[in-house]
Amino acid sequence: MLDLPLIDAYLLKLFRFRTRAFLHMEEARGTVPPKPPGSAGYLYVHIPFCEVLCPFCSFHRVQHRHGQAVRYFAALRDEIRLYHAAGYRFSGVYFGGGTPTVEPAELVATIDVVRGLFGVTEISVETNPKDLRPDVLEPLRAAGVTRLSVGVQSFDDQLLREMERYDKYGSGEETAARIRAVAGMFPTLNVDFIFNQPHQTLGSLERDLAIFRSLGANQVSFYPLMTSPTVERRMVGAMGLPDQRRLRQFYHTIVQRLGREFRPSSAWCFTRRGQGSDEYIVAADNYVGVGSGAFSYLDGTLYSTTFSLAGYEQRIAQGLTGITTCHRLSETDRMRYSLLVQLFGLHMDRATVLAQHGPQFFRRLWGELLTLRALGAAREDARGWHLNERGMYWLMLMMSAFFESVNHYRDAMRAHVKDELHEPVTLCAPLGPSLAPASAK
Ligand SMILES: C[S@@+](CC[C@H](N)C(=O)[O-])C[C@H]1O[C@@H](n2cnc3c(N)ncnc32)[C@H](O)[C@@H]1O
Ligand code: SF4
Repeated sequence: MLDLPLIDAYLLKLFRFRTRAFLHMEEARGTVPPKPPGSAGYLYVHIPFCEVLCPFCSFHRVQHRHGQAVRYFAALRDEIRLYHAAGYRFSGVYFGGGTPTVEPAELVATIDVVRGLFGVTEISVETNPKDLRPDVLEPLRAAGVTRLSVGVQSFDDQLLREMERYDKYGSGEETAARIRAVAGMFPTLNVDFIFNQPHQTLGSLERDLAIFRSLGANQVSFYPLMTSPTVERRMVGAMGLPDQRRLRQFYHTIVQRLGREFRPSSAWCFTRRGQGSDEYIVAADNYVGVGSGAFSYLDGTLYSTTFSLAGYEQRIAQGLTGITTCHRLSETDRMRYSLLVQLFGLHMDRATVLAQHGPQFFRRLWGELLTLRALGAAREDARGWHLNERGMYWLMLMMSAFFESVNHYRDAMRAHVKDELHEPVTLCAPLGPSLAPASAK
């Protein structure tokens, strides 16, 4: 019999080897990057403030302080204007964090600026269960928000306590009631869960799925618990560490339980059937990230902004962007990146990759495409490749491995600014010394 965990581990190792150069960042100038030709991409706006800092969280976030946050939002709006003045246009905007709703009035003012400059039609905002209140949500609805995403992680009170969220964000039952009360308020209401938590059982996951389906929300994202050396050190006392051998069974349960009502939009996001287009979306290749600790991908170059909040304010005051590092991917890595992003969106369109990379795409990535075929991970037709559940599972693993590489980079960058973060961070740069130039603060 095939030893599936062994195959998973081998494939992941190969994937990490193949993609390890993606994040070999070098110092960058900080001016607005050249605008890629063609289509409008996405704007990502990072808000790094939270009321509590959850031990498992792998994002760039700091303890919320009102004065600092107000100055930060003002700098964000200036940075967004810089991109507009340089000719950038966006079709949608995503406010992520951290917790973008920590300063609702500042958030609305920033949405107004983005709408005024770019006329975006899609506006997505992340929030936490405590902020599901009319005084926060009504202004967001009036500002044109089309998607609200709530971080729930689990309805299991024991797990919420371990995640240190029970006291701050309420019990599972309270959170479920708050979500029910706002269902229908925005075109898309997404609920975030984290699966494969160290003390999560299959029964607890099944209960989360059953409660979720009773809420009236129309989208759900199930992220596997991802770590980094710093996250693991924080987690080990509070929650324990995840066991990767359980991932396959958890994932299978999620896909099976959601299957009838929800269709997958990516390897970890599921949208209620009949809502939104069933036509598949070709993943946006270009996006701009603004704020502190944000990433951009533009025409084959990956950029990162400073993780120093003070440094961010200074750079914006000098008329620069927040960008401090970048890495130009090799031609083959750009193809690998396209393959990863498009397959993560469940389909890879032959005509699209041909237009982006030419016929050499199929010659250079023959090994990757052969592996897909050998694994029975995708159906191939004249239009392209379409992932099945087995393929979705592998793409979920690969995307989480990619995010863990990003987490390593975040760890290294946050270690440079540890005095600003109000929490202990230990320096570690497991992806190599070129990863985090000391002067890139
Ligand atoms: C940046 S948070 C924003 C949501 C909001 N701050 C909250 O926690 O309610 C977005 C989502 O990332 C996910 N997340 C955070 N840390 C993670 C980790 N270590 N592994 C997997 N998912 C994680 C959580 O599901 C979270 O809801
Ligand atoms: S999970 Fe959400 S609330 Fe918790 S620290 Fe991360 S961003 Fe903040």
